[in-house]
Amino acid sequence: METVLLATRNAGKIRELGAMLAPYGVKVVGLDAHPDVPEVEETGATFAENALLKARHAAARTGLPSVADDSGLEVDILKGAPGVYSARFSDDWTSLPGESRDARNIRKLLHVMEGHREPESRACRFVCAIAAVRPDDGSLEVSGRWEGRVLDVPRGTNGFGYDPVFLDPELGRTAAELSQEEKNARSHRGKALRGLMSRWETFARGSSLGG
Ligand code: IMP
Repeated sequence: METVLLATRNAGKIRELGAMLAPYGVKVVGLDAHPDVPEVEETGATFAENALLKARHAAARTGLPSVADDSGLEVDILKGAPGVYSARFSDDWTSLPGESRDARNIRKLLHVMEGHREPESRACRFVCAIAAVRPDDGSLEVSGRWEGRVLDVPRGTNGFGYDPVFLDPELGRTAAELSQEEKNARSHRGKALRGLMSRWETFARGSSLGG
């Protein structure tokens, strides 16, 4: 197994997985290297379904072992929303002048949670699912979670997405107040990636590890 396709155009993610798989003699390429692979619609009801959908699609189109991820924020009091819709959560809202999609998502989240002030009612978690699919359709699924609380006022400038309103209660800091290293050590994505690495050799050797 030499080249692995990561089904994303996000250069940061490609670099990250590339560095992790380099010791296994694997080269990671992204979808930019395969412009013939069309984007697949993320129609899954769960992060795991979406990750598997994207990895299967990429493997089927290219014949390469393929990896894909899907992630987002689940808020208990919102019955798991925004969940798989995290990136698109506020697409039904109009941006304020100069407002980014991330900032608009946060504005909508804080709005729908306005009536829930007590810390216990603001429990949430980031979830990341990663799927790997071999050309013989053998697959591997891993996931990671990061428990937190939705703050009512954004704090910090690092990171992306919902980071400024995601409080890690153990640290007393938001994800946007952590360095990249600190975030990797605790995050849903860091945990899922470490899970992937711990099972990679068996997966690459060819035994199918579903579930
Ligand atoms: P994707 O799976 O990388 O496309 O992320 C989906 C969406 O979930 C992002 O657009 C963010 O809104 C949210 N999200 C996922 N992971 C994080 C994170 O680590 N911090 C903040 N937001 C995140």
